[in-house]
Amino acid sequence: MTNKHPIGIFDSGYGGLTVFKSIAERLPQYDYIYLGDNARAPYGDNSFEAIYQYTLECVEWLFSEGCQLVILACNTASAKALRTIQQKVLPVKYPTHRVLGVIRPTAEVIGNFTESKIIGVMGTRGTVNSESYLLEINKYFPEVSVYQQSCPMWVPLVENNEHLTPGADFFVEKYLTELLNQNPKIDTILLACTHYPLLIPKIKRILSNKILLVGQGDIVSSSLERYLDHHIKIKELLAINAKRSFYTTGDQHVFDEHASVFFGDQIFCKHIDLKEQ
Ligand code: DGL
Repeated sequence: MTNKHPIGIFDSGYGGLTVFKSIAERLPQYDYIYLGDNARAPYGDNSFEAIYQYTLECVEWLFSEGCQLVILACNTASAKALRTIQQKVLPVKYPTHRVLGVIRPTAEVIGNFTESKIIGVMGTRGTVNSESYLLEINKYFPEVSVYQQSCPMWVPLVENNEHLTPGADFFVEKYLTELLNQNPKIDTILLACTHYPLLIPKIKRILSNKILLVGQGDIVSSSLERYLDHHIKIKELLAINAKRSFYTTGDQHVFDEHASVFFGDQIFCKHIDLKEQ
């Protein structure tokens, strides 16, 4: 039994792979376990209680697999479940474990990208309704105005591998138009859902190239690197065999086929049934 631990990466489905790809490129030495809760994705339209419960079950499963540090590579879970897990669950049940999200690291830097000081945030209904980005960005960049747009059809398009089909065009254009109608001076759009980078080719075809499109992969991976440099005790506990394991609550063959396309490498995942844990 090793006393070194993998880093857990969690998302409701495939989207977290866009963040994991950046993390694995920047920090290839560590061992990682990725868990996609594809059986219950999308999370975005669910109640607070459901998103919290699903996220906690997945985090606890990653803990049971030996992860001491888990990244919620999902904005919806970060918006709805992270704070309760950090404040109520970890201190009581897992005082040595850490769970980090994607909203704080993004809010810390997003204001540096805009010249007009007007940015758009596109996310799931859960993320938008939580107003987490409004609050967090205001803390770091009070001079920046933030306009939010929920895009409830975008995650289903990605989860169902329809994101590059002609059928996706309508919904890509619809939400971009609705966002820019709120304020045409928006010069920076944050893709505040880890599924959305898969739609970038379509988004770019519609957007003026004067608008900067910001995804979260680089932001979250560089923030994790800084976090580990400032938390040496946690860093020393990490296993460094460059081993990557993938798990899904959904169909493993569908996951392998779909996930490999945008992770770059061939993925062989295993199915898990959380109810059996
Ligand atoms: N990738 C998740 C996010 O960043 C998608 C959430 C969902 O399943 O609706 O919000």
